[in-house]
Amino acid sequence: MQHDTIAAMAKKIVVANWKMNPPSFREAKKLFEAEKKAAAALARRVTVVIAPPALYLRALASLVRGASTAFAAQNVHWESAGAFTGEMSCLQARDAKAAYALVGHAERRAAGETNDDARKKVAACLGAGLTPVLCIGEAARNAEGAHFDYVREQLRIGTADVPQGKVGKLIVAYEPVWAIGAAAAMKPRDMHEMAIFIRKVLAEAHGEGALSVTILYGGAVDSTNAAAMLEEGDVDGLLVGRASIEAERFRILLNAVAER
Ligand code: PGA
Repeated sequence: MQHDTIAAMAKKIVVANWKMNPPSFREAKKLFEAEKKAAAALARRVTVVIAPPALYLRALASLVRGASTAFAAQNVHWESAGAFTGEMSCLQARDAKAAYALVGHAERRAAGETNDDARKKVAACLGAGLTPVLCIGEAARNAEGAHFDYVREQLRIGTADVPQGKVGKLIVAYEPVWAIGAAAAMKPRDMHEMAIFIRKVLAEAHGEGALSVTILYGGAVDSTNAAAMLEEGDVDGLLVGRASIEAERFRILLNAVAER
């Protein structure tokens, strides 16, 4: 069976990256309760992963009974303990009930995070039993296709310390920086091309097991473009920023994903 066909049938994953929102725990709780309810209604078709500010993680996780929603840390450190002011280890994230961690989000890369940092974080996540969501994507495109080289480098270095046979445990979130926070998402056809490229690069480095790696698209995802991206973009799910911090917007988006 073609990968496209399998991807179209499988359960989709939607990661809600709340970033540095909302401003109080009271509001975070309200947002979470609404999103949990929307997720529970669609739990058979969509896996919803909430990435709240770390400060809210444990308290929000304590509100969940059953598996309607999972949690992600927005960032983790690669060391397991020590003198790293302001950081959070993978073990601490796990202890607060995160099952996933974003690694190398564009906003962290813009603040100085490197491919080598991502490499160490991906390996630390896998070692601690967290699923790393390795975020990649170029800042701009040119006619020569330089973005493919850029993305290849992000993938090669970011996954260089993934133990043999473990690449299937990774999630890759392709987020072109020019689409994050923008008015429009990338065209699904271009995502399809990129998904093929990502699988090829990972398979070259890690073998055939990489062909089934989970790929997400992120950047200006909302209810108007989600279904087309899932149908034509060759992706297994979506990484959502703005549309995840308004409960009603997120509910409509999840419904669009479930109905695709
Ligand atoms: P956006 O952000 O959906 O607001 O464009 C996506 C992201 O940064 O993950």
